[in-house]
Amino acid sequence: MANTPFFWKLISRNYIASPVANEEIYQEKLERTRRALRPDWSMIEIGCGSGNTALTHAPYVKHITAYDFCGPMLEHGRTRAANEGIENVEFVEASLDDIDTKTSFDAVLMLSVIHLIPDWTSAIRKAAQLTRPGGIFVSSTVTIDTMPTKMRAVLSLVNLLPVLPTVARISRAALVAEIEKNGLIVEENWQPEGHDSVFIIARKPT
Ligand SMILES: C[S@@+](CC[C@H](N)C(=O)[O-])C[C@H]1O[C@@H](n2cnc3c(N)ncnc32)[C@H](O)[C@@H]1O
Repeated sequence: MANTPFFWKLISRNYIASPVANEEIYQEKLERTRRALRPDWSMIEIGCGSGNTALTHAPYVKHITAYDFCGPMLEHGRTRAANEGIENVEFVEASLDDIDTKTSFDAVLMLSVIHLIPDWTSAIRKAAQLTRPGGIFVSSTVTIDTMPTKMRAVLSLVNLLPVLPTVARISRAALVAEIEKNGLIVEENWQPEGHDSVFIIARKPT
């Protein structure tokens, strides 16, 4: 089934209802992102899921377009925005491939998505194209470095299961190299202890 809208539709109800894996780390990532945002900025988030992160950042930028290829995830975001009177976040059903690179943005977020995209290097290239000079690309990506050997074995098995999205085997160094190859300068490269995701903020030079 791989990383398809169908898979995410199947699990969307559970995904939306599940709490974040580690609230303290999540809050730290939000805080680090927020410190880099500016009130007049135009931001996009690709693979926004339930939209909770985009809605949390809404007071700190001018406008957010939050993309996901899974409609039910976006419905949750739209309902929350309406209930909370948040008017500067627009939810758009689209895949990364559909997003036009003619326009660039001050901030491009891809959180827990890159490792799900088999051609992850192209995904980074596109994110870099979408980032305007002076703007930032923010990612949180599962890497294999800190994964215990047992977990890597489990991952290999999981990747054989046709019902689950394949997780790309990306090392932290390869991730950083790919981001820099696309002309961005990594300003934050944070891997919380014992955590399998690397959080990166990279800036496109002016
Ligand atoms: C693991 S969830 C992460 C959601 C959210 N970013 C978060 O951090 O909670 C991955 C999300 O990315 C979306 N997604 C995966 N591949 C995508 C693609 N190529 N284009 C758009 N959305 C995608 C899925 O529908 C899903 O909502």
